Amino acid sequence: MTEARPTERERWDARYASEAPDAERAPEPRVTEALSRLVPAPRSAFDLAAGSGRHSLWLAARGVRVEAWDLSPVGLGLLAQRAAARGLEVGTRVLDLSQELPEVPPRDLVLVVDYLDPALHGRLHALLAPGGVALVCTFTDDLPGPHPSRRFRLRRGELRSLPRLTTERLEEREGRALLLARRGTEP
Ligand SMILES: C[S@@+](CC[C@H](N)C(=O)[O-])C[C@H]1O[C@@H](n2cnc3c(N)ncnc32)[C@H](O)[C@@H]1O
Repeated sequence: MTEARPTERERWDARYASEAPDAERAPEPRVTEALSRLVPAPRSAFDLAAGSGRHSLWLAARGVRVEAWDLSPVGLGLLAQRAAARGLEVGTRVLDLSQELPEVPPRDLVLVVDYLDPALHGRLHALLAPGGVALVCTFTDDLPGPHPSRRFRLRRGELRSLPRLTTERLEEREGRALLLARRGTEP
């Protein structure tokens, strides 16, 4: 009898279950650099596919009200543990981003780091308040090594814009693309 392949959620849960609470990865420097320059500074954010929340924690430490969404309850559990240890508040929600998204009040910032689902890009607009910003930063196919697999990499030049948002910054270097795009100020 062949064993069933683990689901995506089981794979990520297993990965986060083996991550020591004190072995937190640093946030991606190009992401924090771009976030630091945002004018006006965001007061609220969604961190999508947040995992164990290295960027959510960075934002919360700077006074941003963050809600982290991810498929993995184990990853979000780690995030909650790390937030509590620092006296920070970060909301968490277990959900599958490939399914319909919940109706939520929009926020000033939507962050998507190291996660690729092109269908999600068309739905970021709806999560943003007027004038809000989406920041997407993920792997490109010139990142050395086998991980992540091709399915989770952008081709060079593939990410140019996000539907219904105006591109403000676009860069591709050292195996990652970063795109920052803003929603218009009309409601
Ligand atoms: C490479 S990790 C990136 C985590 C985080 N953004 C960071 O930069 O550290 C990818 C994350 O995507 C999440 N994920 C994968 N498929 C998902 C889905 N369909 N819906 C929500 N989250 C998903 C995984 O659980 C994992 O936490």
